[in-house]
Amino acid sequence: MISFAGKTAIVTGAGGGLGRCYALELARRGARLVVNDLGGAADGRGAGTAADAVVAEIAAMGGEAIANRASVTDRAAVAAMVEQAMNAFGRIDILVNNAGILRDKSFMKMELDDAQAVLDVHLMGAFNCTRAVWPVMMEQEYGRIVMTTSPSGLYGNFGQANYGAAKMGLVGLMNTLKIEGAKRHVHVNAISPVAATRMTAGLMPQEQLDKLGPEHIVPGVVYLCSEGAPSGAILQAAGGSFSLAAIMESPWVELGPQASADDVAAQWERIADLTNARTRG
Ligand code: NAI
Repeated sequence: MISFAGKTAIVTGAGGGLGRCYALELARRGARLVVNDLGGAADGRGAGTAADAVVAEIAAMGGEAIANRASVTDRAAVAAMVEQAMNAFGRIDILVNNAGILRDKSFMKMELDDAQAVLDVHLMGAFNCTRAVWPVMMEQEYGRIVMTTSPSGLYGNFGQANYGAAKMGLVGLMNTLKIEGAKRHVHVNAISPVAATRMTAGLMPQEQLDKLGPEHIVPGVVYLCSEGAPSGAILQAAGGSFSLAAIMESPWVELGPQASADDVAAQWERIADLTNARTRG
């Protein structure tokens, strides 16, 4: 059985939805928690006490947790959160970058300020938190970091140019950190969930949402937080099913140094044939 006894975890955006479920299960399995959440609305506006409520839930089940209301976009507040964790628990073993907001609009109508806000929370938020815990994990020679990507980033979704760009950016961040963290046993993975939360309310028929409870994502994330976790994996999870997503490439087609645009056009079907596609590494 996977245990987190003696380990400390920070889960961002853990005041509700998926993050709350992750925090509760990590605590149930013995981790000491920093429950971070700004406590705002689904579009990121406002603030509240959602983190405190989850800390109370963890305390009620006999676990140990502290609340943190920092916005992941606020570098100084993120640094203070890491200091708070170190002062309280002396180490940080796990970071789940989960905080997120939505500002959906078709690209034609998208305000750049709304694009910036989404990039700031998802991509820069994860960047800030990861950068702040990185020296601790590298020094400890142990760490587990989970990025939260999305099918919208991996495959695209109408009205989510801002969100999709941020979510695929997190895969890029993971790809490099898996290399830089390898020698010191810092493993970095990504979860791509589909779950019924306030973020997806009304986006799918209720019958479908009923099968997609956030608790079904928890086993995947808890595995990625465990000592046995892989590194560099994109784990897709929805309603109790799991799958690995990967960047694939078709076998290289040699057209030679003199190849012209017309040669590329003529060979397009061969170049784009994914029948024997492979991933690298
Ligand atoms: P949610 O809205 O219930 O949870 C997001 C949490 O992040 C909220 O509690 C919110 O207060 C917090 N948050 C927002 N901005 C913050 C900030 N600047 N600093 C700290 N906390 C902040 O939504 P859900 O579905 O639980 O989302 C969790 C993560 O999963 C997000 O990154 C989301 O993009 C991702 N995701 C969710 C999917 C789904 O089907 N629900 C699909 C793919 C990805």
